[in-house]
Amino acid sequence: MVRIHPSILSADFVNLERDLEKIASADGVHVDVMDAHFVPNLTFGLPMVQRIAEVTSLPIDVHLMIDDPDTWAPQYAITGVDTVTFHAEATGDAVSLARELRARGTRASIAVKPGTHVDDVLEHLQEFDMVLVMTVEPGFGGQSFMGDMMPKLEALRGRAEELGIDLALQVDGGITADTLPIAAASGANVFVAGSAVYGHASPADRIVELRAAGKGAFDTGMIDLRAIHRGLAAAGDEATGSLET
Ligand code: DX5
Ligand code: ZN
Repeated sequence: MVRIHPSILSADFVNLERDLEKIASADGVHVDVMDAHFVPNLTFGLPMVQRIAEVTSLPIDVHLMIDDPDTWAPQYAITGVDTVTFHAEATGDAVSLARELRARGTRASIAVKPGTHVDDVLEHLQEFDMVLVMTVEPGFGGQSFMGDMMPKLEALRGRAEELGIDLALQVDGGITADTLPIAAASGANVFVAGSAVYGHASPADRIVELRAAGKGAFDTGMIDLRAIHRGLAAAGDEATGSLET
């Protein structure tokens, strides 16, 4: 239920194959593509992702922090890439792009920066396999978790429950064994961790710790969320009823 996706942004790029082996027990690998335009930082592009796909058997979760994903994102739907995430702020047509990614055989995911509301995403939630709620401003690893993003997770998880869809809900930024349970209780089930994993002497041990921190928190949070949601639905029904009488 809880998936841990270490971010290689905090790995040693010169020894990337070695650092990928260190996270072999993870559930996926998070690969940050940055263009120095959408975010004030630069990493790498498609050739590097293709090479990573050749040397790892982990499902690859590509996080595109680039301008014009409508043009570039479909090219990342290659063998080994499980999910392509593009930013809501950068796309001209999120629904068309998500459909294009799915048509190419990869899972489609949309990301929102801390300042972006999720209303538009909620409206078209069934078009996406995953939603990434950023819990830091995108661009750099090692920043502090923004707890005030939790209502977005709750709204997204609530809507997914309502629609009966199996939505992956990812959080990225400042995830540690302390912050992970907060996000899990709010409905997140895919956790990106860069500095927490690669900053540890044993990334494999840290993955175990993170997984343990999330176990239970997601289920407990889900029970609460479902109860809250049922309460809201009941209140909504009553309101409708009183209008009708
Ligand atoms: C930041 C990236 C993250 C980054 C997270 O813009 O999208 O994936 O690696 O790093 P930590 O886990 O250190 O906050
Ligand atoms: Zn990321």
